[in-house]
Amino acid sequence: MVKIKNIVVLTGAGISAESGIRTFRDTGGLWEEHSIEKVATPEAYAADPELVLGFYNARRAQLSTVEPNPAHHALGRLEKGLLDGGGYLTLVTQNVDDLHERGGADNVIHMHGELLSQWCRACDSKFKSRDDFTTSSVCPKCDHIGRVRPDIVWFGEMPYSMGAIETAVNNCDLFVSIGTSGAVYPAAGFVQLARGMRKQTLEINLEPSEGSSFFHDSRLGKAGELVPIWVDEILEALT
Ligand code: APR
Repeated sequence: MVKIKNIVVLTGAGISAESGIRTFRDTGGLWEEHSIEKVATPEAYAADPELVLGFYNARRAQLSTVEPNPAHHALGRLEKGLLDGGGYLTLVTQNVDDLHERGGADNVIHMHGELLSQWCRACDSKFKSRDDFTTSSVCPKCDHIGRVRPDIVWFGEMPYSMGAIETAVNNCDLFVSIGTSGAVYPAAGFVQLARGMRKQTLEINLEPSEGSSFFHDSRLGKAGELVPIWVDEILEALT
């Protein structure tokens, strides 16, 4: 059997659910309470910036109240273990929280942006901050007032690092999707990209995702339980 050394993992809100961060589309999910059109589009920000900034301020503030769970820690372990074994983990997340980093992963591609990153539309610079932002906030780089937006990829905007992700999928032995409904493209299409490149594919999710039939294998259950088991299997097979 070919040893699995290069892995691409795509994560979604389900991996952070057991840490206490709400998913988007499950019962009680964020999009039940908030309308995407009002808080997660460039048009929403143009129409009511205080509302949009407030939505992300609340989510950013929540980060200091949650902790990474065993699934985040397991992926941190996988990153180190693959590197030690001469392989590589490309960890791509749709999540805007920082739980992968706090779980020990050093190289995380945040394809939908990050709550802790801000983007000044006046000078086009990005900077890290835990602060709340308002329409009176000042950019620390150019001093412009009111031009700082969350560094979040909204609906209708292009996700980050698409070229790097496609290259990583092309170079991997295995593509794994964890805790995502498969409802939002382009991330939902990565499994088909991987299949087109004749890669092995695995889904780990509470329930079958929308693209479940595209995966070779599916493990259904909680990420916090299933991901550590899967990571142990991969690392044991490497030795
Ligand atoms: N373990 C594993 N999977 C879980 C768990 C858990 N403990 N809890 C929930 N899930 C699964 C759900 O069954 C669901 O399939 O996680 C998935 C979460 O799906 P969504 O809420 O749609 O989240 P996600 O797929 O990350 O959404 C993609 O949509 O609104 C945008 O930008 C937002 O990045 C987000 C994107």
